Amino acid sequence: MKNLKDKVAVITGAGSGIGRALAQAFAAEGCHIALVDINEAGLRETQQQLAGQGVRTSIHVGSVADRERMAALPAEVEQTHGAIHLVFNNAGVTVNKSFEDHTMGDFDFVLGINLYGVLYGCHYFLPYLKKQGEGHIINTSSMAGFLGFPNQSAYSLTKAAVKAFSETLRVELAYYNIGVTSIHPGAIRTNILNAALAKSGDDEDTRKMAALVDRFGRSPEHLARKVLKAVKANRMRVLVGPDAYLFEFFKRLFPVWIHVPFRIAFAKAMQQKQLD
Ligand SMILES: NC(=O)c1ccc[n+]([C@@H]2O[C@H](COP(=O)([O-])OP(=O)(O)OC[C@H]3O[C@@H](n4cnc5c(N)ncnc54)[C@H](O)[C@@H]3O)[C@@H](O)[C@H]2O)c1
Repeated sequence: MKNLKDKVAVITGAGSGIGRALAQAFAAEGCHIALVDINEAGLRETQQQLAGQGVRTSIHVGSVADRERMAALPAEVEQTHGAIHLVFNNAGVTVNKSFEDHTMGDFDFVLGINLYGVLYGCHYFLPYLKKQGEGHIINTSSMAGFLGFPNQSAYSLTKAAVKAFSETLRVELAYYNIGVTSIHPGAIRTNILNAALAKSGDDEDTRKMAALVDRFGRSPEHLARKVLKAVKANRMRVLVGPDAYLFEFFKRLFPVWIHVPFRIAFAKAMQQKQLD
């Protein structure tokens, strides 16, 4: 979609991090923005940051995992903005612990938001995009969509699923002039790991990872600039950060061997835990 002026974009997870940066980048291009999140205070902060851009913004509080809420959302957005052209299914969460330590409740939590949230966003908004004769769906996957990471079983499951799902949609929806792009960020400096602390068994490990991401991760604004270009050029996928490029490349080069260092590191960490 080359001309974004006066288009309407719906962004989930817009109360923080990547969603907020996407809102800023697309508002700067003249898009009107419907901000969706479970965190109302975060949404208000994002909305304040968009003030003065000369675009219309609206706030929609709700969980992307709530099917009824997602079914009602497109009509609500259309009533406020008159049309819907872009949908960013971006809200996401993770828990950081081994598969053995994941409860089925952890899986319900992560799949509900990262997988069903994306599915509902695509399903319920599709008729509204079709109505416009052009549209774009942007689904946030991860570098974990390319390979499964240890301590991220639920997360990796959802992100690989979002990648495959987006590939199917891209082929099918081209017929309706609707582009589909999946985003595959490496480490991005946001709140996601701090938010995961409450549900992750090994807090120290999660805190260490969060500190590493804060130090070496890319900014959400850098990601948003890349996504903006990708939407304008209708690219199938966007990789963000050197880690995303490296893991994607080495996974293709060494599809089996790439997992060996992870296996060794995970076994070491398990042994250390047993000693503690
Ligand atoms: N930060 C990274 O390193 C990184 C890397 C790869 C992929 N991602 C993906 O980027 C997306 C955005 O995450 P982020 O890094 O900006 O994290 P973040 O925690 O800063 O933002 C996530 C937002 O989603 C919202 N949210 C959580 N549950 C929700 C629900 N049920 N319904 C609606 N909103 C909900 C949160 O309130 C928050 O505002 C996620 O899909 C995440 O998996 C992040």
